[in-house]
Amino acid sequence: MSDQGMPVLSMRGMVKTFGSVVALSDGTIDLYAGEAHAFLGENGAGKSTMVKIMSGVHQPDAGQFMLDGHPAHFGGPHDSQAAGIAVIYQEPTLFDDLTVAENIFLGRQPLSRGRRINRREMNRRVREIFSQLGVDIEPSRLARGLSVADQQMVEIAKSLSREARIMVMDEPTAALSRSEVERLFAVVNTLRQRGVAVLFISHRLEEVFELCQRVTIMRDGAFVTTKPIEETSVDEIVRSMVGRDLSALYPKSEYEPGREVLTVERLTREGVFTDVSFTVRAGEIVALAGLVGSGRSEIARAIFGIDRYDAGRVLLNGQPLKGGSPTRAMEAGIAFVPEDRRQQGLVMDSAIDHNVALASMKRLRRGLFLHRAAESRLARDWATKVQLKFSRLSDAVNTLSGGNQQKVVLAKWLASDPHLIIVDEPTRGIDVGTKSEVHRMIDELAGRGMGVLMISSEMPEVLGMADRILVIREGRLSAELPRAQADETAIMRAATGQGVAR
Ligand SMILES: Nc1ncnc2c1ncn2[C@@H]1O[C@H](COP(=O)(O)OP(=O)(O)OP(=O)(O)O)[C@@H](O)[C@H]1O
Ligand SMILES: [Mg+2]
Repeated sequence: MSDQGMPVLSMRGMVKTFGSVVALSDGTIDLYAGEAHAFLGENGAGKSTMVKIMSGVHQPDAGQFMLDGHPAHFGGPHDSQAAGIAVIYQEPTLFDDLTVAENIFLGRQPLSRGRRINRREMNRRVREIFSQLGVDIEPSRLARGLSVADQQMVEIAKSLSREARIMVMDEPTAALSRSEVERLFAVVNTLRQRGVAVLFISHRLEEVFELCQRVTIMRDGAFVTTKPIEETSVDEIVRSMVGRDLSALYPKSEYEPGREVLTVERLTREGVFTDVSFTVRAGEIVALAGLVGSGRSEIARAIFGIDRYDAGRVLLNGQPLKGGSPTRAMEAGIAFVPEDRRQQGLVMDSAIDHNVALASMKRLRRGLFLHRAAESRLARDWATKVQLKFSRLSDAVNTLSGGNQQKVVLAKWLASDPHLIIVDEPTRGIDVGTKSEVHRMIDELAGRGMGVLMISSEMPEVLGMADRILVIREGRLSAELPRAQADETAIMRAATGQGVAR
């Protein structure tokens, strides 16, 4: 990276409004060849809107946009691609029925004489790109069934084959396991050596310090600062992002656990999880820890009735719960905040207040006449509690930023006043400022007697919030650690099968 010379991409004072919503008032960033540049800010700060201007999806209302020192005007995504800009999304959408190589060369396949597609040449070129990246994916396999991490690699290979000079990654690590994150970072470093400028968006600050050389921070649609990474600190970044001091990230209180709310007995789903038994008491926060893919989310889905199980049973407040029906689970008093919130938790083109009230309909319907008013009162209340950034509660959920959509799902389930709440990665995609708020809320609800079953891949979150930690390894319960005995080493040992030190 060099501070001298010309930025490959420069945006100054970008303005973008949607109706009365000012998404950007001063979007400003300079990107240089060969740098990994972190782009940070709270949920709704305007990061993705800047990305959408770079990728030609949105046209700015005002501001200066330069590529290599020349003014750039994008009529649409094609112009952006042609200018060498590529955006790698959190969950790319490849064509399932095409091979990896076909996806990469879509519409640009090398032709042999007679104008037939030259598969061998196409696969050879893809293999070459993958080997430069140090990635092991078979070019001739179908895209169907590739992991999210591998799909991202295919997208990166695709942009390299198009000679992209600027790669934008909007929260690429949110759904990746630790080893997948490491592979992605190795690839980013290779890209940098080849002179590619990488713009990296993440809510995990430790990743930013691991990967990036510079950082730019936005707040409320406006530029705050750009700094070399070695001249800043986590605290300083957080202060610039949030504009105030933060409350404790893990506000954990000690409550006397009450009766058993959830009892899971020998639950088994063949090939997925086996003989899993545990309880959650009122006022207790129990964490399911383990590696990504160990079966934690599947156990949660089975308890809530989304997936079926083959043996065992689930009891809520001592009453057996018939499996296979989320509606019944909800009626019994279970709430479930899924991992993949955007797909499973929201009606995207429906209003914010409607979405928040969705799981509380039964309660609200009691006074039929008051229903609409009660719905918006409930929504207003919870929107404040989760620090939702919105303009009108009647706006569709899809006008919110990614992190704010996540908050709506949280609000929806917390508002339903359940006996047991299952939260899968409760703070994924949520900014540092709101994280502590979400933790405080979960702690407070436990204090009011709710049982909490939490799945989290963030070790500090598990250690900071849980009363008891159940470690799942390859579908089995491999350790149960009370808060006092739990530390990162003990959890990792149990998660990877190296035996628990006693
Ligand atoms: N299509 C749209 N219609 C109305 N408002 C929008 C639209 N797109 C974005 N916004 C608003 O613009 C603001 C910035 O959103 P943006 O998605 O850029 O935030 P972000 O920094 O990416 O946040 P996050 O960390 O949550 O992903 C938000 O207040 C959002 O509600
Ligand atoms: Mg975003």
